[in-house]
Amino acid sequence: MRAINNYIEHSLQNRLKDDSLRELSANTSLKDFYSNDYLGFASSGNLKKLIFDAIDEGLYRNGSGGSRLIAGNDLFTEELEDEIARYHGSESAILFNSGYDANMGLFSSVAQRGDTVVADELIHASVIDGIRLSNATRFSFKHNDAQSLEEKLKHAKGKLFVAIESIYSMDGDAAPLHEIFEVAERYDAAVIIDEAHAGGIYGPNGEGLIYQSGLHQRAFARLITYGKAFGCHGAAVIGAENLKKYLINFARSFIYTTAAPFYNLISIKMAYRMLADKSYVELLRENISYFIEQAKGLGALIPSSSSIQCILVEGNSRARHLAAYLQREGFNAKAIVNPTVKKNQERIRICLHSFNTKSDICTLITHVKENI
Ligand SMILES: Cc1ncc(COP(=O)(O)O)c(C=O)c1O
Repeated sequence: MRAINNYIEHSLQNRLKDDSLRELSANTSLKDFYSNDYLGFASSGNLKKLIFDAIDEGLYRNGSGGSRLIAGNDLFTEELEDEIARYHGSESAILFNSGYDANMGLFSSVAQRGDTVVADELIHASVIDGIRLSNATRFSFKHNDAQSLEEKLKHAKGKLFVAIESIYSMDGDAAPLHEIFEVAERYDAAVIIDEAHAGGIYGPNGEGLIYQSGLHQRAFARLITYGKAFGCHGAAVIGAENLKKYLINFARSFIYTTAAPFYNLISIKMAYRMLADKSYVELLRENISYFIEQAKGLGALIPSSSSIQCILVEGNSRARHLAAYLQREGFNAKAIVNPTVKKNQERIRICLHSFNTKSDICTLITHVKENI
């Protein structure tokens, strides 16, 4: 065991040396400018009541009892999936235990050795890991650059896939969806869109950015996650009925895991119900506009009109120092450092929510301006 212990020690020391050591920190009572709970559903008393009332009424088991293909399936889950599909204007939806599981299961099963997945260079790690497991070739194209995508597609072989996010998790900017579809379709490439940071927020009822753009029927698959704006946990892959049948047969992260418990499913169902009240999204939009207005003149701000606003602070140590300062002043905003982002792209990532106050937003920006 000496070899592995030495390796672990050495790897951790390296992380310490360049100030990139990741450590867990327990949630604090600081002002929340860091969570993905964009609409405040994760701690909403209204949502909690809807969930608890439904649990009291239901005669459902505590645990699911097994994987979906064995003991863990029931009518409630199937009806919820149908409801999700209809909500997002699609033929079918299939639930996974998390967005990570969904991307792993989807990419690793639809692409095979000899195929090519062309992914935006900023695509989420779960997509990259799914592609790795698929044994397909992975090309990266320049972030949000349809011309660069085309250059890569020209050299791609096998069945072709294009992987993008609609709102990017680390930059907060939106993909140029129309341009990307136009290029992808010329090469007969299937577009897969991760809507983790758009679901619940964009579209007339939170259907997502691809739905809002009117392109949803042209997507091969969409991913909606429930751990962000929906305030719960889990994810759904949305697409054609045959894709669902295929994933039930071939997506290993769907097949070989215990299905989510009823509590989880009812939370997802009730979170959709909460979206009928548009005031959450309206408050979020107001706060985003206010932040952008107040942050004018901050040259290091990455252009974004979403809930994710990032301020570039070069160097792991500088970014961590600024985040620590903000925390001392009562604000939780995270430093995102290398290797999560490229060197010299280190940043403070500020997540805006429906429940942030204008005065807190203003004070936070003043602290950043004075200390950057
Ligand atoms: C773009 C994107 N896709 C997928 C995921 C994974 O989703 P989950 O947290 O539900 O596993 C995340 C979460 O970090 C994400 O930001």
